[in-house]
Amino acid sequence: EKGGFPSFMEKEINEQPAAVEQTLMGRTDPEGNLVLDELKIDEAVLRSVDKIVVVACGTAAYAGQVARYAIEHWCRIPTEVELAHEFRYRDPIVNERTLVVALSQSGETMDTLMAVRHAQEQGAKVVAICNTNGSTIPREADAALYTHAGPEIAVASTKAFLAQITAAYLLGLYLAQLRGNKYKDEIGQILTELEAMPAKIQQVIDAQAGVKELAQSMKDAASVLFLGRHVGFPVALEGALKLKEIAYIHAEGFAAGELKHGPIALIEEGQPVFVIVPSPRGRDSLHAKVVSNIQEIRARGAVTIVIAEEGDEAVADYANHVFRVPQSPVLLQPLLTTVPLQIFACELATAKGYDVDQPRNLAKSVTVE
Ligand code: F6R
Repeated sequence: EKGGFPSFMEKEINEQPAAVEQTLMGRTDPEGNLVLDELKIDEAVLRSVDKIVVVACGTAAYAGQVARYAIEHWCRIPTEVELAHEFRYRDPIVNERTLVVALSQSGETMDTLMAVRHAQEQGAKVVAICNTNGSTIPREADAALYTHAGPEIAVASTKAFLAQITAAYLLGLYLAQLRGNKYKDEIGQILTELEAMPAKIQQVIDAQAGVKELAQSMKDAASVLFLGRHVGFPVALEGALKLKEIAYIHAEGFAAGELKHGPIALIEEGQPVFVIVPSPRGRDSLHAKVVSNIQEIRARGAVTIVIAEEGDEAVADYANHVFRVPQSPVLLQPLLTTVPLQIFACELATAKGYDVDQPRNLAKSVTVE
């Protein structure tokens, strides 16, 4: 049942190339245009959308944060991401021109379902991005865009997360295509790049030399920090969540730019810090800024574990351990940079002797508010 893997979580991490591939499959026509037939919302309504609100919980909300960077860039539609349980009770400003996107692996998360109902009461259209066919959220939504990750059994989400990000990219590209905006030329190019991602994810999975030893060396860590910037920020949050959930270690993700506004005070000798480094080909010297963050924390004694692109030599001198990911367009990087963090959390929980599939106090699907 676990396909030869010691846990469902490991099996599902290894299924990620297929999860992304299946989520992309059959969604383009021979001319390379995106065709999302399931998106049964009037095109005129989709064209008139002036705000997108993504609602979700936990890992799905981090997928939403990644989606925001992509959707705003490609569509130029203001996009917010909100935890479903906060959205619902805040009297949010939502109307007929708002598109609400509900992200949920299970499709049964009560907090997310209540947010969907609330949005619909205000006249908003809701697109559900879900992994479970026929579940409640996609049934109640105005349209459903399914991720095809296959059943996810381990409580800690892995392949569903990558599939959610992939589906959200498709939605963003589709809206950009529909609205014919200036990023139109980029769409075909990004789609080609997306199609290359499953093989790159496989490369990351195959290249985890040293991760067992790293996990072993961090078995007694009391706290682990994660820093990221731009799309690396939600990846940092996700890396921290995985560690809390299955290894029961206090972990926190920060926007790297926040470091000097407070969190740097936490850095002392031996503090492990994961840093997700933006692509050197990205904008506004974000890469250089994060490299200088690594230098700052190293100078204060941090043990730095760096996730960086192949060929990025600037990080080598300041990293105690480097995980390499293949080059990809900046906005697609989370599909790669998340993977070493999942593998690390899984190895660390295993090293501590925990059941990675059934962490204490957690349920796979949270059907109460
Ligand atoms: C984290 C995790 C949870 C879920 C959250 C939402 O590994 O599994 O944070 O992501 O409970 O669940 P869904 O996506 O089913 O709505």
